[in-house]
Amino acid sequence: MDVYLDNAATTFPKPSIVPEKIYDYIINNGGTSGRGAYEKAMLADGLVYQTRKSLAKLFNHSDPKTVIFTSSVTESLNLALQGILKPGDHVVTSALEHNAVWRCLKTLERDRGISISIVPANSQGETKIEDVEAAIRPETRLIVFTHASNVLGTIQPIAAIGKLARSKNILFLVDAAQSAGVLPIDVQAQQIDLLAFTGHKSLLGPMGTGGLVVNCDADIHPLISGGTGGDSAYEYQPDYYPNHLEAGTLNVSGIIGLGAALAFLETEGLGNIRRKEDFLVAYALNALATVPNIELYGPRDSTKTVGVIPFNIAGELPEEVAYYLDQECHVMIRSGLHCAPSAHRLIGTIKRGTCRVGIGYFNETADIDALVNGLQSYIKENK
Ligand code: ALA
Repeated sequence: MDVYLDNAATTFPKPSIVPEKIYDYIINNGGTSGRGAYEKAMLADGLVYQTRKSLAKLFNHSDPKTVIFTSSVTESLNLALQGILKPGDHVVTSALEHNAVWRCLKTLERDRGISISIVPANSQGETKIEDVEAAIRPETRLIVFTHASNVLGTIQPIAAIGKLARSKNILFLVDAAQSAGVLPIDVQAQQIDLLAFTGHKSLLGPMGTGGLVVNCDADIHPLISGGTGGDSAYEYQPDYYPNHLEAGTLNVSGIIGLGAALAFLETEGLGNIRRKEDFLVAYALNALATVPNIELYGPRDSTKTVGVIPFNIAGELPEEVAYYLDQECHVMIRSGLHCAPSAHRLIGTIKRGTCRVGIGYFNETADIDALVNGLQSYIKENK
């Protein structure tokens, strides 16, 4: 039996309604959205709008028109950072960022003359709000923070940062790659101006879907220009949403799949999803602690993390451990630097990387038992 424990990379399986709705659309409709006046095109348009509405509801955002569809959270983050930051702007960010944020910021530092301050975190990945405040300068334009680290799982104090940013009139961008669909996100209560999310992780949708919730009136320059299906004689990108930031044919089939996943999430209830993942993380932390020579990183407290558990076996290379688990035990985990080198610096694994367990809603305790048994066998065979 295959055991999938790489849900931080992408969730698997998806609720069956997701492929069913995608199949139904491709076979029985196939019309594009926003570009045709015939019935099927309008039906496709309605389904896309329904997904915008469901996302707005999930994130307590008041205006579905300012939920922008992108192909990934990486594109969403680039859209926000490249679209807003100007020469001389200063940005505050965490010590835990994924390369989707970090490489984009470094490129803007080199090519556009922005400056960057990194808020320190401890080896558990915890950030203090006083340190965020201390990093702010008069020219700080934006704070960008991951909601939960993809290396350590640690949840960041998003509401406190949002309050601080709002009090200083600084834009607040949140990378919700690891949190959307499992942690409550309320852009109004948490004072989030820009929320970047992906569809294929805990939102349980397909790859190729993502978005940016624009909960502010900042001027965002589009990443791309092109057709929007309306005002075609106008020679520039329209300034109204969502068309301002969406050009080209949308990923209608993916967005419909994401809409089906959102309906599934609503039925299951975010609270139940979080409770189950929390239980499984606590179970896994206890079970993994029994493995000889294991080095566990991060807070080791399920209430402080999402379903991400990084570990190493002393003296062993993470990729060899992960390869053994896959080949000998059919247990799939991720190994390496997980595209977030600064988080590895915090825990001293920048050269070696870690193994990473990514727990999802469809895992069960038997999956964790299979992982732990696999690790025990690896250790016996490599004594
Ligand atoms: N960024 C994703 C991960 O953490 C792919 O694995």
